Amino acid sequence: MNSAPRGLWPDYPIRTQRLDLRPHRPADLEDILAFHSRPDVVRFIPWPVRDRKQTATALKTKLGQSALTEPGQWLVLAVELRESTTVIGEVLLKWASAIDRQGELGFALHSAYHGRGLGAEAATAVLSLGFDQLGLHRIQAVCLIDNIKSARLLERLGMRLEGHLVHSVWFKGGWEDQLVYAMCEDEWRDMKGRQPTGEVKVPTRS
Ligand SMILES: CC(C)(COP(=O)(O)OP(=O)(O)OC[C@H]1O[C@@H](n2cnc3c(N)ncnc32)[C@H](O)[C@@H]1OP(=O)(O)O)[C@@H](O)C(=O)NCCC(=O)NCCS
Repeated sequence: MNSAPRGLWPDYPIRTQRLDLRPHRPADLEDILAFHSRPDVVRFIPWPVRDRKQTATALKTKLGQSALTEPGQWLVLAVELRESTTVIGEVLLKWASAIDRQGELGFALHSAYHGRGLGAEAATAVLSLGFDQLGLHRIQAVCLIDNIKSARLLERLGMRLEGHLVHSVWFKGGWEDQLVYAMCEDEWRDMKGRQPTGEVKVPTRS
């Protein structure tokens, strides 16, 4: 049985232990500029280092990305640190295909907030959206081979390294290799079954 997802209109905010995930707002501009303008944040992602005008243009697009109504779309949510109400990053979920129930995960956080488990906390909530709410069968994530922090996060989430693609992308002036990680719905459910419910935990590969 393989029934195609119908779309995703989450109830916001999506709460994790320390974060609220929610649609972007026009007032998020300063917080978003704080990380979109950082070379260390965009080093392994396709965006350029953005100025205020470029960030405002990007934000305008994000304002309309709070639901998935058809395949091909990206859900793009602000990651708000609850204790300060600062937007410290963003997470993404692509509904790649309806009939095959495929999706893709993405994330970026301000570097001042790396190394606290916040990426894993936000990404776990996105996996839950994809598997538990949208009804995806498989979610993948692709990172550049030198993006060690991203690869470590994907491993920590329990995603499987499925491929090393050689010179698969022309990236900021040169050919780069990419790593493809993925998880299927049965693996997600097994993993969730091994964890206490109610709060987001960082899974470890057994
Ligand atoms: C990839 C990225 C989101 C990872 O963010 P992160 O929050 O540091 O990732 P994690 O949640 O996995 O945090 C893990 C680190 O926090 C540490 N940590 C501290 N407190 C923790 C806690 N309470 N729970 C879990 N881990 C904790 C872990 O030990 C780990 O350290 P290590 O990597 O040295 O082993 C971040 O580096 C980033 O935004 N990079 C720039 C954008 C980018 O490249 N995006 C990906 C494109 S593919």
